Amino acid sequence: MKKGFSGQKVCVLGCGGFIGSHIVERLLGTTDLEVVGLDIASEKIEPFLKRDRFTFARVNVYDTDTVRGWIEGCGTVVSLVAICNPSLYNTIPLDVIEANFTRPMEIVRICAELNLRLIHFSTCEVYGKTIFGIDRAGREEPKEPDEYLLNEDRTPLILGPVSAQRWSYACAKQLLERAIYAYGFEKDLDFTIVRPFNFIGPRMDYLPGFDGEGIPRVLACFISSLLKGEPLKLVDGGKNRRCFTYIEDAVDAFVEILNNPEICSQQILNIGNPGNEVTIEGLARQMIEVFSELNPDREKLTITTVNVSSREFYGPGYEDSDRRVPDNSKIYRLLRWRPKTNLRDTLLKTMKYYIDVYSKQRELWPV
Ligand code: UGA
Repeated sequence: MKKGFSGQKVCVLGCGGFIGSHIVERLLGTTDLEVVGLDIASEKIEPFLKRDRFTFARVNVYDTDTVRGWIEGCGTVVSLVAICNPSLYNTIPLDVIEANFTRPMEIVRICAELNLRLIHFSTCEVYGKTIFGIDRAGREEPKEPDEYLLNEDRTPLILGPVSAQRWSYACAKQLLERAIYAYGFEKDLDFTIVRPFNFIGPRMDYLPGFDGEGIPRVLACFISSLLKGEPLKLVDGGKNRRCFTYIEDAVDAFVEILNNPEICSQQILNIGNPGNEVTIEGLARQMIEVFSELNPDREKLTITTVNVSSREFYGPGYEDSDRRVPDNSKIYRLLRWRPKTNLRDTLLKTMKYYIDVYSKQRELWPV
């Protein structure tokens, strides 16, 4: 399709977040691209702020006029800004819809108007409820990969009722995907939509009770409990499954997308690791094991798990995706990308980071 990216500036909206910070690090470390980063927060990118080829602007991406000024001179816009914490979907759904549809819609309009390439980070959650036994007309859970793998261009997107506000996020993200797609169709917008599947790694979420309150995603909840010596909470028994993807593998995929604008133009791509599927209960077990390995000096760990109901943990209106396994055939066919890091190594690298950082900051520990 249109333009390549070489020699052009890349603007990363939300560069101070988990995924953004890893993208910035990689672009500065392994390419010669000029990078412009916009965010209100910069703690996660502190080491990169003074690097050549990186311009950071402390900008609220809701301030579209200012954002417009910054992205005007860039060839590619990477859009990462979102509220993506499930505990907020049913507690502040208006903010969730605003942050995941209304505001980023303005960015899409600007990209179309200025003829910029847009790489938009959506979510695997747009696939919605994938529970086959209940939602798909009472069928048995399928055994064949063709039946359970989530495919970008074939799998239906199934959400719960409006009163189950968990789906406010998936619905907002899905509508934004549809709008981006329509801009491609009607206005020739050069876009790629990415659907991340549970990326984990260093610099992810805050740890509750240490440097934040509330409920972050499961990895941070479990690390926080491990550090505090408390039981890991399994929501509704921890039976749901996820495919955890190491952030460096995910960034490899992103770089391939960035490097191949023509192949990826007007495509939707899963980025995930189907080989790392695990129940949340299984994740808890593996994390307890890895934590013991990384802390050989600690007294024998007696940390266990405890079941909590989703209503108690997240409040009313919470529902869950039971299973999300990406079909990786499209991204492999187009870009020859496959994830490399298994779940154990992913947990080792990620948990080592958290243990190192938080052990050094004893002042953050709850008294
Ligand atoms: C969230 C976002 O909604 C997605 O958009 C995003 O793609 C995804 O995270 C991600 O990290 O990529 P979800 O997978 O539900 O989706 O996120 P988590 O909060 O990490 O929950 C995973 C599972 O663990 C859920 O079944 C949850 O109920 C469970 N959980 C969470 C526990 O059992 N215990 C906890 O302490 C926390």
